[in-house]
Amino acid sequence: MTPQRRDLRQLLANRAMCRDFTDTAVSESALSDVLTAAMGAPAAGNTRALDLVVLQGESETSQYWDVSLPEPKRSTFPWPGLLNAQVLVLGYVEPDAYRRRYAESDKAHTRLGGDEAQWPVPYWWVDGGAALMSMLVAAENAELGALLFGQFEHEPALARRFGVPRGHRTLGTVALGHPAPGDRSVSYSGERGRPTLADRLHRGRW
Ligand SMILES: Cc1cc2nc3c(=O)[nH]c(=O)nc-3n(C[C@H](O)[C@H](O)[C@H](O)COP(=O)(O)O)c2cc1C
Repeated sequence: MTPQRRDLRQLLANRAMCRDFTDTAVSESALSDVLTAAMGAPAAGNTRALDLVVLQGESETSQYWDVSLPEPKRSTFPWPGLLNAQVLVLGYVEPDAYRRRYAESDKAHTRLGGDEAQWPVPYWWVDGGAALMSMLVAAENAELGALLFGQFEHEPALARRFGVPRGHRTLGTVALGHPAPGDRSVSYSGERGRPTLADRLHRGRW
């Protein structure tokens, strides 16, 4: 456990993506806190079909960047400090595990055991999002910087590179490390800011 525990309101308010890291190693205890947090997330039907591939240290993380950010793209990448992140966590979900779980007798009434296309809300993405958020909050608690980012068209090549079995889909990648001094290297998206609660809250009805 990370000895210092901070107020939850403060953690949630301070959590923000970091795209600029130092090359200082992430301690095993901080990494363990972040990874363990993912496993505590809720899961529909308690299906538990989340897997994490952890790349730690430059010799492992460089293999990721070699696949997803080869030259000449790398030299013009707007966030070069992202490549210093000492840990990359690749999150995966297995949609078919949900179909199998919801075919079990206690869930058969949902009729979701047949085909993924029948799912009005694909719960593997909901559960995956909850796990990712747990990791981001745990990273903030451990005073680490973190960025959740997409794998986009590199998903198949990364899965091949790191031996991910067929049928497992990526949620994205979480970079973890010690934030570089200064701002957290905001993106164009980040500059859009956050809405206030009043902007999006609909009491009684929309
Ligand atoms: C599903 C998801 C995918 C994201 N993908 C990227 C990405 O590919 N690259 C990136 O720089 N940020 C990515 N982000 C981070 C968002 O840009 C960021 O969360 C948003 O701008 C709000 O900023 P904040 O998280 O710092 O509050 C992603 C966030 C989410 C939730």
